[in-house]
Amino acid sequence: MVQVVLPNDANPLGFILGGTVMHLIDIAGAIACHRHTRTLLVTAAVDGLEFLHPIKVGDLIILKARVTCVFRTSLEVRVDVYSEETLTGRRQQTSRAFLTFVAIDSHGGRIPVAPLLVETDEERKECEAAQARRRERLRRKGEV
Ligand SMILES: CC(C)(COP(=O)(O)OP(=O)(O)OC[C@H]1O[C@@H](n2cnc3c(N)ncnc32)[C@H](O)[C@@H]1OP(=O)(O)O)[C@@H](O)C(=O)NCCC(=O)NCCS
Repeated sequence: MVQVVLPNDANPLGFILGGTVMHLIDIAGAIACHRHTRTLLVTAAVDGLEFLHPIKVGDLIILKARVTCVFRTSLEVRVDVYSEETLTGRRQQTSRAFLTFVAIDSHGGRIPVAPLLVETDEERKECEAAQARRRERLRRKGEV
């Protein structure tokens, strides 16, 4: 997803609001997951999110979302966020987020997600890392 940062998205310093970035991350992650599952989805979790650099009005915000691993009724997506200066093309990574979505039917019941085709070593490693993150999430949830 690519958008230009407009004054309406910004704080008084002229930087995009964190909440706006979070909204776009949720949307980009959901689109990637919808294109895999072709079902209704709800966001179950968003892992710790950092804002490494500000993105200023007039810059582009670029979000790249990729499903990392499918579990049973849930799946994880990674969203990388970049800023790009329109006049120079200078690009910088500003955030990385991992989100979990749960597939549901129209009555809210959970439904199994189709398996993910994992082909390269890099994809296999990403999926293993996703499984470790999932264990940690569910452990934390158990503590709440
Ligand atoms: C997310 C939600 C569906 C989980 O329901 P639940 O009854 O606690 O969980 P279930 O036992 O049905 O588990 C369903 C799946 O969610 C996963 N899950 C549940 N809580 C999770 C969490 N905090 N983090 C990651 N995964 C989670 C489970 O592991 C399971 O996945 P699996 O089948 O792949 O193993 C429920 O809490 C909910 O509807 N929350 C509100 C969602 C929402 O409104 N989001 C914002 C707007 S879309």
